[in-house]
Amino acid sequence: MIFDVITIFPDLIFEYKNYGVTKEAFIKNIAQLNIYNLRDFTKEKHKKVDDRPYGGGSGMVMMVQPFYDAVKFIKEKEKQKVILLTPRGEKLNQDKLKYFSGLENIILLCGRYEGVDERVSKSVVDIEVSIGDYILSGGELPAMIIMDGILRLLPGVVHSEDSVKLESFEDDLLEFPQYTRPPEFMEFKVPEVLIGGNHKEIKKWREQKSFEITKKRRPDLFDKSL
Ligand SMILES: C[S@@+](CC[C@H](N)C(=O)[O-])C[C@H]1O[C@@H](n2cnc3c(N)ncnc32)[C@H](O)[C@@H]1O
Repeated sequence: MIFDVITIFPDLIFEYKNYGVTKEAFIKNIAQLNIYNLRDFTKEKHKKVDDRPYGGGSGMVMMVQPFYDAVKFIKEKEKQKVILLTPRGEKLNQDKLKYFSGLENIILLCGRYEGVDERVSKSVVDIEVSIGDYILSGGELPAMIIMDGILRLLPGVVHSEDSVKLESFEDDLLEFPQYTRPPEFMEFKVPEVLIGGNHKEIKKWREQKSFEITKKRRPDLFDKSL
């Protein structure tokens, strides 16, 4: 999996490479991350990548030309999907991450300011993705969220494949409660069944808790799981 990220803040993305299981993915060459500074592609003499919106209004809009040229520079194969991060996009979920994890190469476009000129979408974008119904100041965190979610799904990144299979949203259910040592903390005790070592009983308990929690907290998911 190759990620190409286009941003005006390359250092922000660069740091992402250095932590946790995802760091391993890059070291082991399971994934590759290329970061491009949008300013390197602008034809504007002061390296500007934004301008005032036509029709008036507050803030600045990112220009089409630097994004267009950056994508054309990176893009060689049809298999590459170009994703624009935008609150107006299709909402990200685990199914979308699974779909993305099956692709070979993703180009992520990070907006800033008031967003990007509509012609970026029209000319080079395949999918617009939102990470939720709220507004952030840039597309860099959403890009990192997408990469992180995909990397966990790639074979060899998370050490136990089981832990990926048993996580929330698999089978449209939230995960059961997890505990580790000590067995007692203040008045809170680890449920007996988890200490007993009866694997059949533990599996039953976890399934039951998973159902209960999903029904209570996410009835929309629970209905889907039936
Ligand atoms: C301040 S936002 C622009 C919001 C835009 N004016 C609007 O109302 O839709 C700047 C950039 O942050 C990113 N962004 C903000 N919230 C996001 C979200 N929920 N999902 C994905 N990207 C987001 C986008 O790349 C966006 O272009």
